[in-house]
Amino acid sequence: MTEKIFEIRHIDKLYGTLLANDDVSIHLNQGEILCLVGENGAGKSTIMKILYGLEAPTDGEIFVKGQKVHFHTPSDAMARGIGMVQQHFMLFENMSVAENIVFKNEISKGLFMDRKQTVQTVRKLSEKYGLKIDPEAKIEDCPVGLRQRVEILKILYQSAEIIIFDEPSAVLTPLEVESLLETIKSLAASGKSIVLITHKLQEVMTVADRIYVMRAGKVVAERLRGETDTDELAYLMVGHHPALREVPAAKPGKILLETKKLSLHREGRDILKDIDLHVDAGEVVGIAGVSGNGQTELEMCLTGLQRPTGGQVFLQGEEVTNAGVKAHRDSGMAYISEDRYLWGSAGEATLSENVLMAKENRPEFNSNNFLKQKAIKAYTKRLIERFSVKANDTEQKIRELSGGNAQKLITAREIMMDTPVLICCEPTRGIDIGAMEFIHDRILEKRENGCGVLLVSSELNEIMTLSDRIYVLFEGKITGEFKRGAVDEKTLGVLMLGGRHD
Ligand SMILES: Nc1ncnc2c1ncn2[C@@H]1O[C@H](COP(=O)(O)OP(=O)(O)O)[C@@H](O)[C@H]1O
Ligand SMILES: [Mg+2]
Repeated sequence: MTEKIFEIRHIDKLYGTLLANDDVSIHLNQGEILCLVGENGAGKSTIMKILYGLEAPTDGEIFVKGQKVHFHTPSDAMARGIGMVQQHFMLFENMSVAENIVFKNEISKGLFMDRKQTVQTVRKLSEKYGLKIDPEAKIEDCPVGLRQRVEILKILYQSAEIIIFDEPSAVLTPLEVESLLETIKSLAASGKSIVLITHKLQEVMTVADRIYVMRAGKVVAERLRGETDTDELAYLMVGHHPALREVPAAKPGKILLETKKLSLHREGRDILKDIDLHVDAGEVVGIAGVSGNGQTELEMCLTGLQRPTGGQVFLQGEEVTNAGVKAHRDSGMAYISEDRYLWGSAGEATLSENVLMAKENRPEFNSNNFLKQKAIKAYTKRLIERFSVKANDTEQKIRELSGGNAQKLITAREIMMDTPVLICCEPTRGIDIGAMEFIHDRILEKRENGCGVLLVSSELNEIMTLSDRIYVLFEGKITGEFKRGAVDEKTLGVLMLGGRHD
């Protein structure tokens, strides 16, 4: 029999009155890749945080290699060979890659850290596991994918045998995801045991040996990869078959958002070049592209976060090219940011403070510069209920919500703004199937109400399903424009990679 490297027995976890884990029993075998799937709020992170010593269980037992353990901190878990790559990285921006990896376990020379030895050790480690990094680079200069590698190396440096990944691909580009999945496989091949939390079922089918499905705090199913498929897993996650969507034809009205020769030239490069696009009332316009082809900069130029170096932006016929974010909002633009942590929300602020953002001066919330707290709370409560955000209270901090629930709240805030234009960037990245359907419904509802929606997404499925018109963005230029139904997924995929459409 294979050895159970850990076993969790009958764990309950209560947060106040909320039962986040309900009699959860799961185990991991030596050398196995185990996937934990489930909708946002299902309790996946909670059970792994308990295993990692970040949260204390209310009831139940944990065994590591057959021995009962009581972890009070992550160092306790680490001492037993358990490491976790969390959703938010815990790295020091102004330290080097190598310094971050050895942090708290420095190689010293007398009183000081032995820099040369550190760099060499880290380089060896990175070669051993095929995780490419530059030990001497500063973290602040590293893109997300690289930071994740640093987190993984940090755990490997501490000789972890069990590595837990909590939705590692939510922050990555498609290419980075591929290389992460390769890494996970090779770690398992080298004898490490892996837990991967994800709700991307394609990823599950690529790497999992075994799968647990969680719903509402409970484990509802256990499957070997060979005995299931993405349809069944989706069904088990949400408790019903996700609907196949038929979208009625759009009835576009007048132009609401338009760019003329919009360009951004930076460091001798054309990041955006002569972008001519328009979004009309009552249509969803998709920007298809592999991320990194100018989407972020387009988003920023359209919302006033970045000044373009050439061309013009018009909102409802008025030029807003160099106006700031506030002016854009005032002229009728709502905006769901791609980076919900950076621009979308203030983590330390409460749910109602986050909901109030950009609405501080509305008469329903403000009377002679006094905020109407009661009205704000009531409104926040309505959003929470309508969008099924799993939260305890309007006055809790937004960072206490699971990532998907925070995203739902920010999306709710922007969708409910009642503006003529909505810019939606990766609105469902890191969100499970149930919530994704819900957000898609709301976007289509906006369209029915005459709103013009610009949808920037690297999920081809999402673009194909929702868009009435599609622009392809490649290397900062628009390389194609299609009406709904006039292009298939394959052709679009080829164009997105810079191929030609014949
Ligand atoms: N620190 C906390 N305080 C209160 N409630 C929490 C806390 N962490 C998680 N929860 C709640 O517990 C439930 C499970 O959350 P989580 O384990 O993060 O879900 P998942 O990772 O599956 O998305 C959710 O309803 C969430 O809001
Ligand atoms: Mg989670």
